[in-house]
Amino acid sequence: MSNKPKILIQFDPDPQASTFDSIVAIDSGVDHLLVHGGVTEAAIEGLVHGAIFTRSMDDLKRTALFFGGSNVAAAEALLSKAKASFFGPMQVSVMADPNGANTTAAAAVLSAMNHMEFANKEITVLAGTGPVGMRIAQLIAGPATNGAAAKINVCSRKLTKAQQVCEQIREAAPNANLVPVEASSPDLAAASVCNAHAVFAAGAAGIELLVDGWQNASNLQVAIDVNGVPPVGIHGINVMDKAQKQGHVTCYGAIGVGGLKMKIHKHCIQMLFDSNQQTLEVEEIFAIGQSF
Ligand SMILES: NC(=O)c1ccc[n+]([C@@H]2O[C@H](COP(=O)([O-])OP(=O)(O)OC[C@H]3O[C@@H](n4cnc5c(N)ncnc54)[C@H](OP(=O)(O)O)[C@@H]3O)[C@@H](O)[C@H]2O)c1
Repeated sequence: MSNKPKILIQFDPDPQASTFDSIVAIDSGVDHLLVHGGVTEAAIEGLVHGAIFTRSMDDLKRTALFFGGSNVAAAEALLSKAKASFFGPMQVSVMADPNGANTTAAAAVLSAMNHMEFANKEITVLAGTGPVGMRIAQLIAGPATNGAAAKINVCSRKLTKAQQVCEQIREAAPNANLVPVEASSPDLAAASVCNAHAVFAAGAAGIELLVDGWQNASNLQVAIDVNGVPPVGIHGINVMDKAQKQGHVTCYGAIGVGGLKMKIHKHCIQMLFDSNQQTLEVEEIFAIGQSF
């Protein structure tokens, strides 16, 4: 058994790497954190080779890579290039959580699953086009329903944007019942929720998506808002709400979801050092959260 120190290498495309990602890594118990900001696709291969060619095969699992930062597409491109830089068994485990999108989506979906099953239900994802909202829809279309049917309304201010996201999710979940919905006004947003059993609001920080009155939607069992910056995404939900009842609806605010998100994030980092072959993206991160 290897007793080499656990090294996490944090790769971030932003000019200054995320302090949030660094602090969570340290709190997760890594022995050494190596932080690289401003990482480009041109540079990643050399950095990865430095990580895989320095330790023996037995010790490789004590090195892992984390891809974070605010630019989700750029971080995912780095992850993809990093994996292409491995040589067969000469690889290390990797985790991607740019902008917290994977852990937040996993925590939001798992929070809802404490109170309901998604199979044969109608689920609305407001602002389902951003990194968090798209992943919430992806998880419900996939592992959270385990193949059982659910109607998923993917909302956007622009129908074409919602359509594109539905197409992207269908690549992995071809049978999913994804419905692109234009929700460019408070009335259209309310209409997208009126038959829903669950609503997730994943809008940009400080953007209210749903005005008061949603509590009257008779099917609604769960309402989750991940926007913690006032005004929050669902009027009347408090950021601290955690399984808080409003009439017949169980509500979560951003901090109410955030505790589970942090627990999942730390647990995933610890698990990276179990072997040198893991890739933790949204579905694997969800599965880890589900195992608690
Ligand atoms: N609780 C936590 O632990 C946690 C962790 C990470 C992130 N978050 C929060 O999760 C939320 C989603 O994150 P994200 O990175 O996916 O967000 P994002 O990319 O900034 O925005 C998500 C969507 O919001 C919509 N939007 C943007 N500006 C808008 C405006 N002015 N009016 C109406 N809609 C607008 C856009 O959808 P359309 O253009 O398609 O309408 C966009 O795709 C954010 O509020 C973020 O702060 C919470």
